[in-house]
Amino acid sequence: MTGYPEHQLADTRARHVLDRLAAQDAAERAAGLPQEQRIRALTPPTGVFLYSVLLALRPKFIFEAGSAVGYSTIWLALAARQYGGRVIGSEIRPERARLANEHLAEAGLAEVATVLEGDAAELVRQFDAIDFLFLDAEKDDYGRLFLASIDRVVPGGLIVADNVVSHDCRAYQELVRSRPDVYTVTLAIERGLEWTVKRW
Ligand SMILES: C[S@@+](CC[C@H](N)C(=O)[O-])C[C@H]1O[C@@H](n2cnc3c(N)ncnc32)[C@H](O)[C@@H]1O
Repeated sequence: MTGYPEHQLADTRARHVLDRLAAQDAAERAAGLPQEQRIRALTPPTGVFLYSVLLALRPKFIFEAGSAVGYSTIWLALAARQYGGRVIGSEIRPERARLANEHLAEAGLAEVATVLEGDAAELVRQFDAIDFLFLDAEKDDYGRLFLASIDRVVPGGLIVADNVVSHDCRAYQELVRSRPDVYTVTLAIERGLEWTVKRW
């Protein structure tokens, strides 16, 4: 079950990797593996949604907090390649960062996206003009990751956080709602996305 019609993703090389990782994620969930042993990928429709958002808004520089083995990073990179964008992912577990970069290379996207190993809140300090920030690390850490990044997001930049309906992300949602420098709304798409725009 890929969640998207084949014509929406004509790149067969990338589709092969995406479909394999989606199948792995589904099998791991079905087997009831503990969270730390699963790749915890986005749902395929969430991937299609992010892909289409990028194609519409064309953010030049994309930073992802929590890349795991690169499933979401591939979706972001596929879109970014089409308009000349660049994706930097981050992953705290070294083995996963290595796999993510292998999967990006296998999908033919190594020139568009790289996953750095380490804590996203530290790695993000290297960048100062983030157009699109995707939060998909530990859900109780979203606030810290947001606070480490928000000054580096450009005015009009978009911050999307996954799992805000499937998990208890109230602390994060209260944080973004308390801030006068962003507009925010919860989108009931798949596992729930918090959609936050930095004000001009
Ligand atoms: C939900 S998974 C990410 C799934 C990935 N975005 C995808 O859709 O394929 C969360 C990942 O974030 C990583 N992580 C947790 N805390 C992190 C941090 N502070 N910085 C970077 N990565 C982190 C975890 O090791 C885990 O692999």
